Amino acid sequence: MTRRPFIAGNWKMHKAPVEADALAEQLKRALADVTAVDIAVSPTFLAIPAVVSRLRHSNIGVASQNVAVETQGAYTGEVSAEMLKAVGVQYAIVGHSERRQLYGDTDAVVARKVQACFRAGLSPILCVGETLPEREAGQEELVCARQLEIALAGLTADQVGTVTIAYEPVWAIGTGKVASPTQANDVHAFIRSWLGRYPAFVARSVRIQYGGSVKGSNAAGLLSQPEIDGALVGGAALSVEEFVAIIKAAV
Ligand code: PGA
Repeated sequence: MTRRPFIAGNWKMHKAPVEADALAEQLKRALADVTAVDIAVSPTFLAIPAVVSRLRHSNIGVASQNVAVETQGAYTGEVSAEMLKAVGVQYAIVGHSERRQLYGDTDAVVARKVQACFRAGLSPILCVGETLPEREAGQEELVCARQLEIALAGLTADQVGTVTIAYEPVWAIGTGKVASPTQANDVHAFIRSWLGRYPAFVARSVRIQYGGSVKGSNAAGLLSQPEIDGALVGGAALSVEEFVAIIKAAV
């Protein structure tokens, strides 16, 4: 079985609705002929309705950058998976390192957010990855295993088989310091072997994206690795030219 490449652009806290709509429109036109790659963009919550409506009937899906744990209620500032689903969101990025480091998303919270996605019918893109000190201490596999173990606990094998995992070494995010294709592929291979605790179809079907300073010029080297099934792209996803180049490298 070959896994379909999956490239997602995380726009982070950039692009208010008018600019987000314009970027979506440009991407829709530039990528209209791409059929062999799954594509998603992840605007701010505020811009989601405009972008969903712009990308309706296109080959580009919409992801949220976060979800609340709860369904509804007195949770000031939160947006639930059910609300996102209701406006046409398909995927949710969960456990991004910026959420973990700046907003206190612990492994346990990340697990509850993954559960929230399944409850509402969103496909989670689960981010894992080690910090620089953890990498220097040779703990990258240990850290990824711990993050996966907690985040995926309680899911059925069928559910795990539909999760996208984004391996994002924290030291490579927004730093311009991309992991080498071999460094990334090694951790991806470890993650796939970790998935071996489930029935065999799970490790075969789960897509593992690499994230961290991916751009047009380094995408082909990364995406040609056997265990790298796609990319989660931050900064370069804000440029039509760069994002399109990354997607063309995945074809
Ligand atoms: P970057 O971000 O591509 O800007 O390094 C990646 C991410 O945070 O998902």
